[in-house]
Amino acid sequence: QPIRLSDYRPFPFEIETTHLSFQLEPSATRVTATLKVRRTGADGEALALNGERLHLKSVAIDGRALSADQYVLDDERLVIAEVPDAFELTTEVEIDPSANKALMGLYMSGGRFCTQCEAEGFRTITFFPDRPDVLSRYTVRIEADRAFEHLLSNGNLMEAGQLEGGRHFAVWNDPFPKPAYLFALVAGRLDVLEDSFVTMSGRTVALKVFVDPGQASRAAYALDALKRSMKWDEEAFGREYDLDLFMIVAVRDFNFGAMENKGLNIFNSSLLLAEPETATDFDYERIESVVAHEYFHNWTGNRITCRDWFQLCLKEGLTVFRDQSFSADMRGAAVQRIKDVKALRARQFAEDAGPLAHAVRPSSYLKIDNFYTATIYEKGAEIIRMLKTILGADAFRAGLDLYFDRHDGEATTVEAFIACFAEASGRDLTSFFAWYEQAGTPAVSLTHAYDAAARTLSITLTQKTAPTSGQPVKKALPIPVTIGLLAQDGRAIRDSEVVLLEGESLTVRWEGVAETPVISALRGFSAPVTLTTDARPADAYVQFAADPDLFNRWEAGQTLARGLILARAAGAPDEVGEERYAEALGRALDDEAADPAFKALLLALPSEGDLALAVDPADPAAIHAARGLLRARIAVHLGEQLARIHGAMQGDGEFSPDAASAGRRALRNACVDLLSADPHAENVQRIVGHFEAAAALTDAMGGLSALLAVGGEPCETALSAFHAKWRHEPLVLDKWFSVQARDPSEDALKRILALTEHEDFDAGNPNRFRALVQGFASANSARFHDPSGAGYRFLADQILAVDGFNPMTAARLVEPLGSWRRYVPALGELMRRELERIKAAPGLSKNVLELASRALE
Ligand code: ARG
Ligand code: ZN
Repeated sequence: QPIRLSDYRPFPFEIETTHLSFQLEPSATRVTATLKVRRTGADGEALALNGERLHLKSVAIDGRALSADQYVLDDERLVIAEVPDAFELTTEVEIDPSANKALMGLYMSGGRFCTQCEAEGFRTITFFPDRPDVLSRYTVRIEADRAFEHLLSNGNLMEAGQLEGGRHFAVWNDPFPKPAYLFALVAGRLDVLEDSFVTMSGRTVALKVFVDPGQASRAAYALDALKRSMKWDEEAFGREYDLDLFMIVAVRDFNFGAMENKGLNIFNSSLLLAEPETATDFDYERIESVVAHEYFHNWTGNRITCRDWFQLCLKEGLTVFRDQSFSADMRGAAVQRIKDVKALRARQFAEDAGPLAHAVRPSSYLKIDNFYTATIYEKGAEIIRMLKTILGADAFRAGLDLYFDRHDGEATTVEAFIACFAEASGRDLTSFFAWYEQAGTPAVSLTHAYDAAARTLSITLTQKTAPTSGQPVKKALPIPVTIGLLAQDGRAIRDSEVVLLEGESLTVRWEGVAETPVISALRGFSAPVTLTTDARPADAYVQFAADPDLFNRWEAGQTLARGLILARAAGAPDEVGEERYAEALGRALDDEAADPAFKALLLALPSEGDLALAVDPADPAAIHAARGLLRARIAVHLGEQLARIHGAMQGDGEFSPDAASAGRRALRNACVDLLSADPHAENVQRIVGHFEAAAALTDAMGGLSALLAVGGEPCETALSAFHAKWRHEPLVLDKWFSVQARDPSEDALKRILALTEHEDFDAGNPNRFRALVQGFASANSARFHDPSGAGYRFLADQILAVDGFNPMTAARLVEPLGSWRRYVPALGELMRRELERIKAAPGLSKNVLELASRALE
């Protein structure tokens, strides 16, 4: 039965202190927990603790062992009916980390102990009120064989030493009360890279990054990103770090990206380790932003946490907004914004358009793990961004300061958060709250009328949100639409202004508009909506050439390309338009003033997933073919120019991961990618040369992906050379799997299926598994939607195989099948049948069951 927001009740006890003692053994670890408990709720309430897969050895109150008739134990709980008002509870359990393949709780990775407790993993370590509103001060004693060299937990190291029998111990204390999901423990042989940071108040914080032995040099970039994050959070938000030590550990087997455990962040090694040869520029970018994200959680998540898991966006949406702002400052606001919006559209808009659509703050769930979604993270961040746009930077900052001040040390709610902004700005934000409660992407339309004689422009904005499951009737939302005007020759004639669309529709009249304007609306993507306008293609060309808002300049190109591809997919190609588009793109590439990173983004056509969202029902094969034809036309039209730019963007040897150098590489690789759409001998030679000369992994991957598009002998040679070179580097080998998973060629499916039998494939490692399966399902529209249905069958088989031991990773793959209603009936039916097959499978996890059922509703 689902858990509901409306059922929230405070826990009737307080756990003042938690003392944990670990006797680590890979297959039989002893955990003794001593909790200082005090009743805060009604007299006579029972003490109910969560606990799963624990072998209870003993339980005692104030030192007196309880007999089996004094408590009730089932698969999920330990309930003690009669307890005093204040007492000490001691439990002793045994667990088996080596058998834990779900990678939640305490498990082994690469011979080391590590933990992942968010959201509900702590209950597989010991009996505890495993809910985010129970905050406690932790002391942790870890004892293990000396082979497990480093013994780490949250907070400060209090004591450490040697013991009999080749064992040793360490005692950690975390002075900040925290919920159980922020607990962490790591034990094992690790190398450490150290540094320090002096905070704004002059305290010195020791920084330590722990990695696999021999890999310390690969952590240098992450450490540098950490220091920049710490500085930035002081400057941008006045947030200072609070412990004397900050540690990060990289682990190889991890279900997600990373985790913000207090003082001891744990990272998927793919988001921490980077060297030019083994990480792409995209990896560097992600490392920088994820290091920042987890560090920023120290205030938005840890110091102030969530009352219950329905409030997940309180920490995640806000922290994503903070990391996006950081990346914008580090790498350039326009390019960052375009990338963030591309990701939002690819993942969140798709989610919002299907049966798994849910509110940023949902009101019920079966498994909270299923709600670590693009909606809660990315749309959650968009809501914060809109708040800033609507209130202005100063009032926004004042509201956030009030929030930090008022709620420090608490587990709180989205309501309390928004109240701080209402109070600080003096504005009524009641209607704004609907953004948190209503699922679905609003569709905004813009029409205009220009009266040349009166020099007035009136703009009418209208909004509508389609029903989503469980929400048949939608409210109008307050939507900030940033609008500026251009003249027909591209001059700016009116600066940006935020128009707040509050009801269903709104008309604004602007006086003194002296010439026929081109309207540049939704600048900077000021709200997470789809926008349709009455603009003519000619207007879009004006924007594409000259819009000073670079987001909208890029967006104009995307809009034009989308129109051309969809027209062709619908059987009505506009050949003249296609030539015109290629020419305009060529002019944009020649713009000396434009940043190469921006040009690289201009060269990428809307993705097939993005295009599929714009038609109902979608026919992936037609979209793939039409998009391919436009790519080929551009490649033919701009061939020489692309080759010239490819040459000009050649680096001068020394690798640097900075944004400007990465931008040049991005543009080079965008050229190679397009050239592969016109594979004549000279182009193929250029691509082969690009791959063979690649010193940085970005270039090697760009070359490899282009060679897959070309196919044949050069492709096979490159694939085996790459494998031979990198077979012992797991993170690079992951990319070898994922580039093949994304290959849309007609015969690619055979290769992809065969890869699951490859000796290097390991479904137990989430990185390797996702490289192949996620890459396929989310980035290979043509083959996933193969008319035979073999792509769907492959995905369903993989989901079922992995669900047997790692439900969380399995569940994340259900979504691509969930969109079955949006596709042409022949495909939709095949997709639906796979969902039915999954749902009917014996022994299915709650995680997959919840998503498969919702997808079929
Ligand atoms: N809090 C982590 C982060 O966003 C992610 C934890 C993911 N946990 C999960 N159950 N999906 O940084
Ligand atoms: Zn987060």
